Parts: sequence; structure tokens; C-alpha cells
Amino acid sequence: MPKYSFMLNGKKVDVDAPSDLSVLWALRDKLGVTGPKYGCGINVCKACTSHLDGQEFNPCVTNVEDVAGRKVTTIEGLADGDVLHPVQQAWLEQDVAQCGFCQPGQIMAAVALLKRTKNPTDADIDAIENVCRCGTYFRVRTAIKSAAAKMAASPATTKVVSGSAVPVTTAGASLPTTGATATAAVTGAVALGAAAVVKAMGEQGSAEPA
Ligand code: FES
Ligand code: FES
Repeated sequence: MPKYSFMLNGKKVDVDAPSDLSVLWALRDKLGVTGPKYGCGINVCKACTSHLDGQEFNPCVTNVEDVAGRKVTTIEGLADGDVLHPVQQAWLEQDVAQCGFCQPGQIMAAVALLKRTKNPTDADIDAIENVCRCGTYFRVRTAIKSAAAKMAASPATTKVVSGSAVPVTTAGASLPTTGATATAAVTGAVALGAAAVVKAMGEQGSAEPA
């Protein structure tokens, strides 16, 4: 079976897989990275949204051979150690997550939007196609605007995450030590293992939708 190598959240990984295995299953089943969620598998729900070379992409419809030698970032790679990305911090402050299932994709889509547009309009935000069955759209919008305002107002360093420039505030965006459920809902390996998600999806973050 061919072996494919790529950078995942800043570290080189090797995957033995058929060339047409989707990146989503390579991540979830072969690499144990379960932040990107499976909802539809046909590029509609956007629950799997992650970044490829700094641009948002949907790993459910991207073959693993197509990311060889490239840089993949999932929600697990967004925080800078214990320092949350401003979008993650805004998600916590606005208490966006409900069941949590769509939230990794929502956050990665929001980060991609803010890289394209520093001050997104309602129309820009509404153009995000990520589906939320819990209907968190209003709070998603509020959190994106809050993150945009903070990113504009605060000095930011630039952290290179899998080849993409991701601004990270230098202060005030540290990972809370309490409120573990809410924290987990927005922080990937830090851990989109959200308690609610894990409860809903099974201990291993089952690929099947609830
Ligand atoms: S699972 Fe990838 S878009 Fe739905
Ligand atoms: S929070 Fe979006 S599907 Fe539940």
C-alpha cells in the first residue's frame, strides 16, 4: 500500500493508505485526529472543514494522495499551546457551542474568513456554508465579530501553523482551567473531544453523525 507523507499541525506524518482514501478518514481512522467531523462526506455540511496550506478545505472530498507534501491544519493545531486562537477564545466567551458537533468546522471556517476579511460583514458571515443542526448561527456571527474586533485592537504575533500565518494574541487568550466542557468544545486536541461531542459520538469520537 502506498505511503503518503504530509505535515499535520506542524508535524510530519506518514499514512499507509490507498490513494483514494479521503483525508478525513486518514485523519480520523489512521491518525486519531477526530476534530474534523464526518457529517455528509460529499462537501455539503462542512463539518470536516480544516485548512490545507492555509486555505480552508474539506477533507471528506480530498484524497490523501492530494495532500502529500503539503500542510494540513485541523482544529487541534489552531491553539498555540495553552494560548487559544482569538476565534476559539471568542467562541468560549459567546458560549457558541451547543452539542458541539459542527463547531470544529465552524471555527476553522471562521478563521479562514478572518484571514480573507479582517472586518467581515453580516453577508460575509452568512456566506459561510457550515451547517449547524443546533442553530447556533446567531452566536457564530457574534463570536466572529468579537474575534475580528479583538484581532484588530490587540497587538498580535504571527504564529505559523502548518504554513499558514495565524495571528495569536499575546495576552488574555489563555486556556481557561475551568469550564472544561465549554473549553473542550472549541479547542481541538485540547480537545474537540468536547465532553458533549464525546458523549454524543462515543468514546473514540465515532465518525457517524449523532
Ligand atoms: S463531512 Fe465534509 S462536508 Fe460534510
Ligand atoms: S452545535 Fe452545531 S450541530 Fe450542534
